[in-house]
Amino acid sequence: MTSSVEGQNLDSSLRENRVFAPSAEFAAKAHVKSLEEYEAMYRRSVEQPEEFWADAAGELEWFEKWTRVLELGEDGSGNGAKWFVGGKLNLSHNCVDRHALGARKDKVALLWEGEPGEVRRLTYGDLHEQVQRFANVLKGLGIKKGDRVAVYMGMCPELAIALLACARIGAVHSVIFGGFAAHAIVDRVNDSECVAVITQDSSYRRGTEIKLKAIVDEALEQCPTVKHVVVYRRSDTAVKMKEGRDIWWDEALLAAEHECAPEWMDAEDPLYLLYTSGTTGKPKGLVHTTGGYSVQTYLTSKYVFDLQEDDVYWCTADVGWVTGHSYVVYGPLQNGATVVMYEGAPNWPEFDRFWKIIDAHKVTVFYTAPTAIRAFTKWGAEWVRKHSLASLRLLGTVGEPINPESWMWFHREIGKERCPIVDTYWQTETGAIMIAPIPGAVATKPGSATRPFFGIVPEVVTKEGEPVPDGKGGLLVFRTAWPSMARTVYGNPERYEKAYWVEIPGSYFTGDGARRDADGYYWLMGRVDDVLNVSGHRLGTMEVESALVAHPKVAEAAVVGRPDDLKGQAICAFVTLEMGHTVSEELRQEIRQWVAKEIGALARPDDVRFTEALPKTRSGKIMRRLLRELATTGEVKGDTTTLEDFGVIAKLRGDEE
Ligand code: WT7
Repeated sequence: MTSSVEGQNLDSSLRENRVFAPSAEFAAKAHVKSLEEYEAMYRRSVEQPEEFWADAAGELEWFEKWTRVLELGEDGSGNGAKWFVGGKLNLSHNCVDRHALGARKDKVALLWEGEPGEVRRLTYGDLHEQVQRFANVLKGLGIKKGDRVAVYMGMCPELAIALLACARIGAVHSVIFGGFAAHAIVDRVNDSECVAVITQDSSYRRGTEIKLKAIVDEALEQCPTVKHVVVYRRSDTAVKMKEGRDIWWDEALLAAEHECAPEWMDAEDPLYLLYTSGTTGKPKGLVHTTGGYSVQTYLTSKYVFDLQEDDVYWCTADVGWVTGHSYVVYGPLQNGATVVMYEGAPNWPEFDRFWKIIDAHKVTVFYTAPTAIRAFTKWGAEWVRKHSLASLRLLGTVGEPINPESWMWFHREIGKERCPIVDTYWQTETGAIMIAPIPGAVATKPGSATRPFFGIVPEVVTKEGEPVPDGKGGLLVFRTAWPSMARTVYGNPERYEKAYWVEIPGSYFTGDGARRDADGYYWLMGRVDDVLNVSGHRLGTMEVESALVAHPKVAEAAVVGRPDDLKGQAICAFVTLEMGHTVSEELRQEIRQWVAKEIGALARPDDVRFTEALPKTRSGKIMRRLLRELATTGEVKGDTTTLEDFGVIAKLRGDEE
């Protein structure tokens, strides 16, 4: 834990002693009404986890009941654990049919607003029809249970329908964030040998069209396994349709049968893949399975967002990330909630678009990211104060540690000091929320994710796995198995073991630093590995480095994060050039652009610093710690004794702008 982002957060959070208890009014209507109730439920959930999770699972519909709730891995740990063994269910059935065939047929399921301003409302009944018909379209293409289907779309109802239709027939979806470049699509599609891609002509963002289909066309030149492309018509912009491969969503839907019975999925059948960055150059495809994932996304949505029948729930995350999977689509829909979806940017056409949406649709629960809150703060409270926001009753954050000042701004300006804030800590790998306050029960402290969710046993340990006393920083691990944990890395089980289970034997290692205070509250301190968090998006330093060295003029590259007021971390790249090339501003821009083209705009380095050499140890390892220090403070004061060539530091410093 050497980066100063972590240090800063630790410093400010150590000074933080404000506590905000839920109001009596909020608590009275909440699912969990007091700390005592939370503690009793928590105690039962960890003392009798099988009984606890069986009760939770019992709130969903199963075609066949499980025979065992939990079967631990061979070594008795969560590594290799199975949940709801022998149970059969279908997540699209629990998200849609259960409500459409029950009392919620005419309740709005998806309330969508396009960036240009159009609004669409789909009831659970509508969703039932659309999902079944689209599932039949997929079946008609010969797509069957177990086939991988890539989804590359913008935020629109059809994206949710695509996921639910895949889940319905047992096809394994692999959503690729619409901001990723063609190259990133190629890697992901080929790694899991997708048979089809679902996309759309274009999507709107900040007033411009993102031509998704054209990017798919470029990618598919290098994806031999893809036989079909289904194109949703969003903007009617001109696209090329490849004969025999590409079909239009609307035309296929018209021809499709109305009824499609859900596939009976085994609890441990894969539901989806989602690629995320790790410490190597290649993103890993985490595999989430059906039963446990359904149960924990359902239960966390119910309790952490305290979902009530009349809530209008809005999570601003893109479905391209895990937050969108679990808390735009699967969690809230299993709860029968009304889910708001917005297509575009928060500052389009003006800085108050989100607040307009909240007032227009009477949003009650609003879940967003600290990086967004920092942007709102910068744009100014005037934009917020033009709107009432009176409908809001609960706020949430996710993606990175929230600094106490941003928390206070969110509390004051958006929550009007009335709404509890749930700071939710979790990861792509955990599938669902792990640490967060239960809002009617647990008092909040600005900057802390507070206490574990039911059934979750976090611990702060040393590198050797020894418990660290309260108040001291260490590594965050989870001691016991939880239902929504990713089961493996697609096609690479060794990488899964190595990344999560080897570091601290017997425990799941998160890659995060944390400390626990005397009240049992967890304070997250950021990543302790070579993973960056840029605007709440995860990026591997190695991933950016491999994009950099793929540039013909770049010889070597090292990437580090440096603290950034808006993004949390900014990407700082140190680059050495191949012989014969000279440093220029033009080349710097070319290299930044190159990375954006290789990975996507979110990976574009903020700084590119040219240097003659990189600091390495005698065994040839790049000393990122020194680069991080240099990028952050402009100085290197840390321990340099293992450095191979002491002259390097002077050279690096000399090259600073
Ligand atoms: C990493 C996971 C979980 C969905 C969004 C990101 C950081 C996430 C918090 C939080 C402090 C957080 C961690 C984690 N993180 N939420 N509330 N407080 N840090 O998912 O891309 O898998 O990234 O995000 O560092 O390991 P992800």
